[in-house]
Amino acid sequence: MRSVQLLHLTDPHLFADEACELYDVNTADSFRAVLDSALAGQVPDAILVTGDVAEDESRDAYLNFRRALARFDGPVLCAPGNHDAPETMAATLAGDGFQYCGAADIGGWNVIVLSSHIRRHPSGRVARDELERLDASLASRPSMPALIGVHHPPVSVHSRWLDGVGLANPAELMQVVDRHPQVKGILSGHVHQEVDVMHGGVRVLTTPSTCAQFLPHTENCVMDQRPPAYRRVELQPTGALVSGVTWLDDWRASKPVRDTRHGPF
Ligand SMILES: [Fe+2]
Repeated sequence: MRSVQLLHLTDPHLFADEACELYDVNTADSFRAVLDSALAGQVPDAILVTGDVAEDESRDAYLNFRRALARFDGPVLCAPGNHDAPETMAATLAGDGFQYCGAADIGGWNVIVLSSHIRRHPSGRVARDELERLDASLASRPSMPALIGVHHPPVSVHSRWLDGVGLANPAELMQVVDRHPQVKGILSGHVHQEVDVMHGGVRVLTTPSTCAQFLPHTENCVMDQRPPAYRRVELQPTGALVSGVTWLDDWRASKPVRDTRHGPF
């Protein structure tokens, strides 16, 4: 058994019109720049995308996402974010390696992708049927190390405004996780910043967006000047998990990113 290389991308916020910007960042350009960097070296075995793929809920935004990833041959596992349109996303991101939610055996790891989407609401909740699906998947593969992908992180990020639009039922999710010691990590997005904390034996990671970032530890929304980013995760056969974030240091936003104190939600 060899290690598995997973690429974690999150919060691309793509539009049907690729000229559109979010917080003064052209999200199609920044997504392509991230892929150029992330796929230039060692090609990952799989890509996990934890939501907010589309900003405008359009079918064309998801088709733009597919087109940008056409250069990658492996599985692309996708969770919906609060900005996504789950039905459109599920219909568009299917086939040719694309998968909406569900689970996949990635090199001997059980990678389970959950929905935390609540229609027209910025907060998240992992619904009872999703919790039951998670529990059943973990119970049926107790000897496989497991990784969970879900848009809203199940931990506080110590920003009052972001915690206010976080996961509504983190304890319910973690109760399921805690019943299955093979769960080694949870990968999330939503907070547009890097978090790396332990919950018992489970590493909880968030990854900055492929477009604009939020400044950590603020009362209200303040945009961070940091560039687009992505995360590499090495999943080792022993169940160990090695991970780090890469920021696009050569990225230059077309315009300075402004502060948005009223918040984006
Ligand atoms: Fe987002």
